[in-house]
Amino acid sequence: MAVTSARQLDAAALRAQFPIFEQAGGARRLAYLDSSNSSQKPRAVLDAMQTFYETSYANVHRGVYELADRAAAAFEDSREKVRAFVNAGSQREIIYTRNATEALNLVAYAWGLENLGPGDVALVTELEHHSNFVPWQLIAERTGATFAAIPIEGGNHELDLSKLDEIAKRGQIKVLAVGLVNNSLGVVNPVSELAAWAHEQGAICVVDACQAAPHRPIDVQTLGADFVAFTGHKMLGPTGIGVLWGRQELLQSMQPFNVGGGQIRHVSLEKTTWNDLPHKFEAGTPPIVEAIGLGAAIDYLNEVGLESIEDHEVEITEYALGRLGEIFGLTIFGPPLERRGGIISFDLDGVHPHDVAQILGNEGVAVRAGHHCTQPLMKRLGVAATTRASFYLYTLPEEIDRLVDGLHRAKKVFA
Ligand code: ALA
Repeated sequence: MAVTSARQLDAAALRAQFPIFEQAGGARRLAYLDSSNSSQKPRAVLDAMQTFYETSYANVHRGVYELADRAAAAFEDSREKVRAFVNAGSQREIIYTRNATEALNLVAYAWGLENLGPGDVALVTELEHHSNFVPWQLIAERTGATFAAIPIEGGNHELDLSKLDEIAKRGQIKVLAVGLVNNSLGVVNPVSELAAWAHEQGAICVVDACQAAPHRPIDVQTLGADFVAFTGHKMLGPTGIGVLWGRQELLQSMQPFNVGGGQIRHVSLEKTTWNDLPHKFEAGTPPIVEAIGLGAAIDYLNEVGLESIEDHEVEITEYALGRLGEIFGLTIFGPPLERRGGIISFDLDGVHPHDVAQILGNEGVAVRAGHHCTQPLMKRLGVAATTRASFYLYTLPEEIDRLVDGLHRAKKVFA
């Protein structure tokens, strides 16, 4: 493993373990600055999935033969890796879903439909990804609850916590849905503080950790939230698998979101009863090989070290903020380095973000342009879209240099 010390990783050496970076040489070689969208995969993850298919594949929790037992044991081993990764108290609290969106919808439907009503408030923030915003808007509409959002303040586009008292007067706050790190601008929210406030109001706190779990250590014991969702494909794992961690007593109290095979204890014409946690919430054949891949991704992240990854991203982000700051006519959105993840959204004066991304793409620099599934935030910023560069453990300073060169070219083309 390419770790030079406990605190410093060697991104260039790590990069050699990602097959995607081996292709396309020369000037058009890939500068992949879109890891917030989806991360690339190390060979260890790809190999673990391939080997599992070749040597250990069978459906899980349904067969009594040796191969099925082995598959089920590997699947549950992976759940243990996820449990340890977030320091959950029990594997019963780790629910596999197809992605984080499904995990967040699970909470909104299974908890929200039962617990919200007229006079209650479902509170989100203006920084939320649509997946942690729209489910609560919908459940509020269906239950007669009020839907509200913590606004952002002007300068740094961070949450305006001075508005909390005023919001609390709008009704009984029952749920606060908030992201740990915002996906568009990289704003790091004070989630422990907000979770404590939510509890004082008698509310639960639901955290979207998609942009945090791959990049910094997460401990659900100290975070203080009630539900935490994240996805595999942004943390070196495959698509098709997400995770919901929830407090056991809440999960016990909830009805299932999806029903069908695997999550049933007994079915009769009169009544159906549910399996134990976590299976109660895992209807149908689960993402078996994807769970193996996620387990391998967690092994990889642990070996590199989440602290080292976080430190590397801070260094890269600092470098990128400095270099982008040199470009005349470029506006960077979001907070200072200390309260920012490895994400930078910007606007290049007079050039549409999609044109910027196209020109960068032509140079082999991969960024995302658009509203990043945060339309209410874009409205607040007064833009339809931004161009976004996002970083990970394999990001190199020379990729930032190529981003900057590409932006200078975009300026010339559209001058
Ligand atoms: N949520 C992902 C992003 O921010 C897809 O790009």
